[in-house]
Amino acid sequence: MVNFLRVKRCLSSLILPLSLTLLLSGCTPPADDEPIVIKFPHVTAPGTPKGQGAENLRKLVAERLGEKVVIEVYPSSQLMSDDDSLEALAFGEVQMIAVSLSKFDRLTRKFMVFDLPFLFDDLTAVEKFQGSEAGNTLLAELTEKGFLGLAYWHNGMKHFGGPAPLRQPSDGAGLKFRIMESDVLQAQILAMDGNPQKMAFGEVYQALQTGAIDAQENTWSNLYSQKFFEVQDFITESNHGYLGYLLAVNPAFWSGLPADVREPLEQIIAEVSAQVNASAQSLNQAAREKILAAGGTEIVQLKEAERASWRQAMTPVWEEFADEIGADILSTTAAGN
Ligand code: LMR
Repeated sequence: MVNFLRVKRCLSSLILPLSLTLLLSGCTPPADDEPIVIKFPHVTAPGTPKGQGAENLRKLVAERLGEKVVIEVYPSSQLMSDDDSLEALAFGEVQMIAVSLSKFDRLTRKFMVFDLPFLFDDLTAVEKFQGSEAGNTLLAELTEKGFLGLAYWHNGMKHFGGPAPLRQPSDGAGLKFRIMESDVLQAQILAMDGNPQKMAFGEVYQALQTGAIDAQENTWSNLYSQKFFEVQDFITESNHGYLGYLLAVNPAFWSGLPADVREPLEQIIAEVSAQVNASAQSLNQAAREKILAAGGTEIVQLKEAERASWRQAMTPVWEEFADEIGADILSTTAAGN
């Protein structure tokens, strides 16, 4: 379960003024002959879009900047949870993160746009928004709070897994759903009369296995690599929401890098981000095929009328958060097209 004390401590650290963040960011330059070490912890498996992106980044940096920079990748929550990594970045204990956009909602309510259910039909719609002026501006939204967004990385569209098909929102009534730390996702489950439980990613498999929760939502690549499908009889292919990441660094650490390191790193990150976003869809489809091939989990497709009733049920969620997200942002998304 989420360690609330830790989260509380984390929250207070995350609103440090930038000047203090600079002080704490551990940006003391290494000695001239030592490479700069960039620790990059994340929570997904190596074969997922994020896992592959982190590994490609590590390899390209080793090839092109090996003398000057080393990226150390720690996948599968082996170093820390996402919540802890937000805190660790602020304190300079790690230098790069790629945390789900949903988990930044306590730092900016604007990111809640990414969680609105049934707002984006697919990754193409998300990309259109992320590439817009409003989407680009959001990358730098958290700089003052100690997070400089360098890129958006896709995972994919989320689906509901549970003990029964979720053809209608009411099919989720009474079920305990694991969700990420996000108020929109909480409202989404409440709109189904379900019981939302905010929980770290690394704890979900066991919670499903022991019956502490009944259901969850995630992408095919996460459902497969975390083995959630083994403890879920049904996955409803709902495509109801987006899961993507903010690849972020501590702004003080980043601006403290010598230009002959920062600039090639930016170039590598641009290349790797393009690869991640181009391959995310096919990685997720491959994971879907593997779940099907394993047998034991039924994949449920929604009919058009069923999707319509989901959209209808989620209207109050959009209404609840529209003002905080802002009309300027919403008008640039699929909703405004
Ligand atoms: C989750 O907690 O479900 C996701 O944020 C995991 C991830 O990083 O894809």
